[in-house]
Amino acid sequence: MKTIMIHEMPNHAGETVRIGAWLANKRSSGKIAFLQLRDGSGFVQAVVVKEVVGEEIFAKAKSITQESSLYITAEVTVDDRSTFGYELQVKDIEIISVAIDYPITPKEHGTEFLMDHRHLWLRSRKQHAVMKIRDEVIRATYDFFHMNGFVKVDPPILTGSSPEGTSELFKTKYFDEDAFLSQSGQLYMEAAAMALGKVFSFGPTFRAEKSKTRRHLIEFWMIEPEMAFVQHAESLEIQEQYVAHVVQSALKNCPLELERLGRDLSKLEKIKAPFPRISYDDAIKFLIEKGFDDIVWGDDFGAPHETAIAESYDMPVFITHYPVGIKPFYMQLHPDRDDVVLCADLIAPEGYGEIIGGSERIHDYELMKKRIQEHGLEESAYEWYLDLSKYGAVPHSGFGLGLERTVAWISGVEHVRETIPFPRLLNRLYP
Ligand code: 4AD
Ligand code: MG
Repeated sequence: MKTIMIHEMPNHAGETVRIGAWLANKRSSGKIAFLQLRDGSGFVQAVVVKEVVGEEIFAKAKSITQESSLYITAEVTVDDRSTFGYELQVKDIEIISVAIDYPITPKEHGTEFLMDHRHLWLRSRKQHAVMKIRDEVIRATYDFFHMNGFVKVDPPILTGSSPEGTSELFKTKYFDEDAFLSQSGQLYMEAAAMALGKVFSFGPTFRAEKSKTRRHLIEFWMIEPEMAFVQHAESLEIQEQYVAHVVQSALKNCPLELERLGRDLSKLEKIKAPFPRISYDDAIKFLIEKGFDDIVWGDDFGAPHETAIAESYDMPVFITHYPVGIKPFYMQLHPDRDDVVLCADLIAPEGYGEIIGGSERIHDYELMKKRIQEHGLEESAYEWYLDLSKYGAVPHSGFGLGLERTVAWISGVEHVRETIPFPRLLNRLYP
């Protein structure tokens, strides 16, 4: 007899198979028991009929506690009533390990309790669905960039530089020197683009931000493409194609998960390139017209501002050409204006906030050097980076997409903490 996984059941209709699983939930009467099983690959209902299996196995079925592990021998049958479409008719049960007093019962629990039990909470239907969607976004990312001639490059995690400003760095000792945990791999990706043309990275990044919002993690994963000979406008086109590809891939490959999360699919189905663009200048005018009297030209946007702008569209929207003063040192200046840069943030719909930050990069040596000085950065730490604008500098652009915010939006979950297996948050390092 074959041992299979739940997701393989459609290929085994009518056969008797063996499955290793955990008991997620159960309900039973005197004659019949319904076991909700999960094996990591999926969830399925197993039906135990007393008349079929006999007293002993039926008693065993009724005694199984939540999250006990077991092997089950059963016939795979078609079940049109469930979304999965299949069910198990149990013949035998072998209990592997009995779980006593599993803390996450089927009743409602508070967020702090669930976060304290994150190592177990991951087993729930909802968290399982979100993790599968995260995996799909990663898969579709590699798919998109490899299809378009990008090479995957891995920047270091321990670094001496700080592309996004010095205020949010995690400092650590590197033997006798100071090092920082990477807050972005961008500068290294720029070097890689000069060697390999079009590159992308995918890795963890760290921000010692004292922000406690539904969009902020201390440790989050970023996808950072960097492209030689690509300028601002073309970079936006690649970004919108990439994001549309990821959303459409999730729709195609995670239908059960999106349904389990109750996601409104019609909102995602609409997400196709091109995306609308609004300049920072116009965004400020728009916000003032909307009655935001706390904002003036030169300010950065907060979450309420971004949400107000995003609400005018049913697509992600690019906000372009931000003031020089609120963006990092490496961004290319506008060719006709010295007060804004060639950059864009992509704001997701439905209040999920900024999912991409990107720009064209400076490729003029003198200008780059000046900007590094103006930002008060330690020049010696950027000597290698300045070499890039010294030796064969070319126009180039890149961007960073925050994985967790993107997964939160696609999944429709409220808070980014549910989109990463073990979130690092302000005041939370465990589990
Ligand atoms: O806008 P950011 O800071 O841009 C950069 O780091 C650039 N160096 C990227 C590049 O051009 N290569 O971050 C990029 C994205 C944001 O748009 C957001 O989606 C996500 O990273 N992000 C966070 N996600 C979760 N928690 C945080 N604390 C985040 N900070 C940024
Ligand atoms: Mg940003």
